[in-house]
Parts: sequence; C-alpha cells; structure tokens
Amino acid sequence: MDARTEEERFNAIIDDDEKIEPRDWMPEAYRKTVIRQMAQHAHSEVIGMQPEANWIARAPTLLRKAILIAKVQDEAGHGLYLYSATETLGVSRGELQELLHTGKQKYSSIFNYPTLSWADIGAIGWLVDGAAIVNQIVLQGTSYGPYARAMVKICKEESFHARQGYSIMMTLADGSDSQKAMCQDAIDRWWWPSLMMFGPHDSESAHTAESMSWKIKRKTNDELRQMFVDQTVPQARYLGMTIPDPDLEFDEESGHWKIGEIDWEEFWSTIRGDGRLNRERIAHKVKAWEDGAWVREAATAYAVKHGMKLDKSA
Ligand code: 3HC
Repeated sequence: MDARTEEERFNAIIDDDEKIEPRDWMPEAYRKTVIRQMAQHAHSEVIGMQPEANWIARAPTLLRKAILIAKVQDEAGHGLYLYSATETLGVSRGELQELLHTGKQKYSSIFNYPTLSWADIGAIGWLVDGAAIVNQIVLQGTSYGPYARAMVKICKEESFHARQGYSIMMTLADGSDSQKAMCQDAIDRWWWPSLMMFGPHDSESAHTAESMSWKIKRKTNDELRQMFVDQTVPQARYLGMTIPDPDLEFDEESGHWKIGEIDWEEFWSTIRGDGRLNRERIAHKVKAWEDGAWVREAATAYAVKHGMKLDKSA
C-alpha cells in the first residue's frame, strides 16, 4: 500500500520527470493551467488557418498552392489534436469554442496581422512556424502526458511548415529587385510580432514561475525567444535580408544576439482584442462554427439513432 498522500505522489511524478496522465490525481490549479495553455494552443492553430487561407487561391504556382493547402490542413489537424488532448481533462469542445468566441480564452497574437503579399506566406512559415517549433520542441518534455505526446506528431509537421516558408523566402531573395523588396517588406512586418509569440518578459509573466515548477513549461518565455533569435538572425543574413532592429548586435561574451525592446503596448493591446484583425478573425470563426451547426446536429442524430455514446459538447 502506497502510504504517500496524493500530492506527494503527484510531486514525485513531476520530480522524476515522468508524465501526469488524465486519471492521475493533480492539483486543481495544475489542471486549470494545463487546460488554459492547451486550449489556447489549439485555438491558435485553428485561427492561424485564416491568414494563410487568404492566399491559397492566389498562390503563384500550382505546386505552391498544393503545399499551402497541405500546410493549412495540417494546422486544422493540430487544432483537433490539441482539443482532444484538452478534453482528457474533462472540458468539452463546445465549451472551448464558447470560451474562444466570447474572448474568455485567447489565441496567439500573431494571427491578428494581415497577409498583404505572397512573401507573407513565406515569412509566416519561416518566422511564425519557426517560432512555434522552438516552443513546441521543448513542449515535448511537458509534464502532462497527452500534451507531450501531441507535440511529437505536431513538431514533425511544423518542420515541413518552416522549411516550405524559408524556401519561399529563398526564391524571393534570389529573384528580381521587386521580389527582394517584397521579401524584405514581409520580414519588416513579421519580425517583431513573431518575437511577441513567446509572451511577455519572464518578469511580467503571470504563469511562467508556476508552470516551470510543475514542468508544464520547460523553458521560460525569454529563454525560448532567445533560442529563436539566435537561430533566425543567421538565416536572415543568408537570405541577404535585414532584421528590422537597429539595436540588434551579437554579444561575443554570451554568444547570443541581443535585440532591441519589443513594443509591449502593441503586444498587450493585441491580446486585449484591439489588434489589427482580432474582430475579423473571431467573426470569421464564429460564422464557420454557426455554419457547421447542421453537421454537428446530423452527426448527433445519427449517433443517437444508432445508440452511440455522445460527449458533452454534442
Ligand atoms: N498571444 C496571445 N496571448 C498571449 C501571448 C501571445 N503571443 N503570450 C502570452 N499571452 C497571454 C497568456 O495566455 C496569458 O494570458 P491568460 O492568463 O489569459 O492565458 C498572459 O498573456 C500572460 O502570459 P504568460 O507568459 O504568463 O502565459 P503562459 O505562461 O501561458 O505563456 C505562451 C504564454 C508562451 C504562449 C504559452 O502559453 C505557450 O507556450 N503555449 C503553447 C504554445 C502556443 O500556444 N503557441 C501559440 C502559437 S501556435 C502556432 O503558432 C501554430 C503554428 O502552426 C504556427
């Protein structure tokens, strides 16, 4: 008989770098913050389809169209995967949609920016998916089992997303003067919002300390941001492009690239819902959810008729 308390067993699992599984006892605060982070991760994947879908019908070649369609389909799958992982903690998909639609849960700030040219699709793949990969590779070590396992599949697909994005940027950077200018313009518009994906500075982060203590997070916001900057600056230089940061400089002592200050007012106003396209993104999502109601009703009717088990969100 294990004489330890439930909390002692929970803490031993965390300390031993093992995984917390859905049926394990866990502090309510742990459950709530894992639901919060996984749900918002899922929301980000789903809303993130909008800026890219905007260019599927305008891709410059059939091959680029096919690649972009595959990527957007992957993002939909990542969202469904992460919603399924979130449901293991007893919250239904319908509840999660309601929390997103009413602004009670967030999605990544990055998806509130417009995609103005084809180069934006390259910048999103290279910078946005590149930033997501830095974060998600580390999240493969998160303490909640279903979340860690979801990251393994997602990271494999994200690598393709980043590669195809950088391939677009290489084509443009190697092209005509106007293509080079398009490439630089996209970097100028997506560089700083990509850095904001990692969240506020650790000193301003409401959740990082607790999430690190429970090994939900394995690296802090600033540590992940630094990893992304260090890997991306040389890639921009290889393209012959400029990072839009006059304060960017390499620190020989630490071996890291030092960046200027992020516009935190832009960051906080975007996540408050006052970004460039927040209202459009949510309106589009709500319409898609409402337009799909008949599918959910038909599937539910079929399941009831055939005596199948329904989950709460139905
Ligand atoms: N956009 C929107 N909200 C953000 C944000 C951002 N870039 N950064 C932080 N926030 C929010 C947090 O959610 C939190 O608000 P909440 O309490 O209402 O949830 C608040 O700002 C304070 O931030 P913290 O740093 O304290 O919050 P976290 O500890 O949750 O850290 C995070 C934020 C680093 C985004 C973390 O949640 C995380 O690592 N999430 C998993 C990865 C993820 O969601 N990535 C989003 C992009 S997915 C993607 O890009 C898809 C790909 O296919 C392109």
